[in-house]
Amino acid sequence: MPAREWDKVDTLESYVSREQRMHPQSRGVFSDLLRRIGVASKVIVSKVNKAGLLTDKGIFGRSGRPEPGRRTFHLLANDIMRSTLSWMPAVAGIASRDEEEMTSFPANGAISSRYIVVYDALDGSSNIDVNISAGTIFAIYRCPIGVEQPELEDYLQPGYKAAAAGYVIYGSSTMFVFTTGQGVHGFTLDPDIGEYILSHENILIPDDCTCFSANESHYARWDEPTKRFADHMRFGDDPRYTGTSSRYIGSLVADFHRNLLYGGVFLYPADCETGEGKLRLLFECAPLAMIADQAGGLATTGRERILDIRPTALQQRVPLIIGNREAVELHGRMIRDHDIALGLRRPSRPPS
Ligand code: AHG
Ligand code: MN
Ligand code: MN
Repeated sequence: MPAREWDKVDTLESYVSREQRMHPQSRGVFSDLLRRIGVASKVIVSKVNKAGLLTDKGIFGRSGRPEPGRRTFHLLANDIMRSTLSWMPAVAGIASRDEEEMTSFPANGAISSRYIVVYDALDGSSNIDVNISAGTIFAIYRCPIGVEQPELEDYLQPGYKAAAAGYVIYGSSTMFVFTTGQGVHGFTLDPDIGEYILSHENILIPDDCTCFSANESHYARWDEPTKRFADHMRFGDDPRYTGTSSRYIGSLVADFHRNLLYGGVFLYPADCETGEGKLRLLFECAPLAMIADQAGGLATTGRERILDIRPTALQQRVPLIIGNREAVELHGRMIRDHDIALGLRRPSRPPS
């Protein structure tokens, strides 16, 4: 890029600093957090990009087939996120998809506004062994003022209370996508200079639902209305969906990111026998629900908005239907009509 061009380049650093200057009372604590997560993601991608070399040297085990005594990439990524964040005075606590317990830090008279960071350090980790995209998902919540050391209920906040949410996708290129409630913005890593460069400002999910994304081998275990929705999307004659293709990568971040940019809907429904979903509310679903919401989309369990759910446990799992608002609402109506027909609920509007 010619020298003159660089004066127009917005990096994650400059973008976050400019956002911070719009809030004069801000002391930059929150901006520092976002930047630190950016640093952690650069360390993670520097390892993930060499996965085959590190695995074959025996330095790391394969995520797909854990080998005794070998750390796998998702534990490495978890260590990187933990060590990058836990020394910061602004961090009151961290919780991870890969740890049963949260880790809280005493305020020690530190700054008033502190934050709780929750993350899935490496989502889609089993795909690392076969060079398929993976990512990091995170959300940042305010630690209630005056709390010396956050307790479990301080972590169990509904998604609508998040101060920020985002993800980094380690794909053909690395991209940092986040929202602080002022739209969704994407920054592509320029490996030549090690900077995240603003490449996608104000991302909005396209109206066309071009992708239907689900692990269709689980179809038999979905409830009836979800099966009806899947059939409608793939085989129906609804003109809105006749152009919809099935795409499923098996990395939530990658499937979500494609749908965010191309338009589409991703489902990981509950298993109708167990009633359980697979994906974690706090570490996977709520952060992406904030992104979807800010990009004009929607995320529900089929019966309620993901952002409205107050977690009951750190590792709580929920069903997830996320992406194109019209498609997610269609699924919600099918669930509602099914429940009404069975007398499970009275007629009311589905979540939107
Ligand atoms: P993680 O690697 O953090 O455990 O997440 C894997 C998740 C998610 O990334 C993906 O959408 C889903 O597992 C795929 O599950 P199936 O293999 O059952 O389709
Ligand atoms: Mn995950
Ligand atoms: Mn993970």
